[in-house]
Amino acid sequence: MLTKVHTGLDPVPGVWWKPAHKAEKVWVGIAFAWCLVLFAMMPLWHWKGGQNPSGIRTRVDPQQFYRRTTEFARQYQVGTDRGMPIVQPPAGSDVYLTALTYQWYPILQLVQGQTYRLHISALDFNHGFSLYPLNVNFQIVPGYDYALEVTPTAAGDFRIICNEFCGIGHHTMVGRVIVVDGSGRPVADTPRARIIPGGAP
Ligand code: CUA
Repeated sequence: MLTKVHTGLDPVPGVWWKPAHKAEKVWVGIAFAWCLVLFAMMPLWHWKGGQNPSGIRTRVDPQQFYRRTTEFARQYQVGTDRGMPIVQPPAGSDVYLTALTYQWYPILQLVQGQTYRLHISALDFNHGFSLYPLNVNFQIVPGYDYALEVTPTAAGDFRIICNEFCGIGHHTMVGRVIVVDGSGRPVADTPRARIIPGGAP
């Protein structure tokens, strides 16, 4: 003998469908208004929030991107640091940086206050671009060119740390970005800010 089971098809006996209390309407109104605020915050935060810049993302062939980077490095090389070319491109130009196990190629030398279009991509695996000691973080994915408008605001000798585990040498994957001031004076490579051996052959 089946007993009568209450299902969602039958209205529940009770009082809950009576007109909402005024306080409930007020709370629903507040919640709805807050939803609209949060909705508006999404585009607002994108432009005004000082968040990660929005870039142009295009598909690229990893090998071709790497070839483009080496060509770029040959074109504007101004020096070498432990075998890694130091490259100073003209202001306003396209700058290429490739992440590969386990290095950031090449070393970029930029001028403070000048704007560049920085193209970053990876040759082999996912890498993480973390510009130390600044709070700049990007996921670098092979096959995608993440182009960013970059204007260095401070001179210095910065390190790029890979913050995405990419293999046995992940912890040695350290790159270098040098920002010279407007006079073009080189920034001293302080002992504290050295590339660790093996990081950038
Ligand atoms: Cu590249 Cu970790």
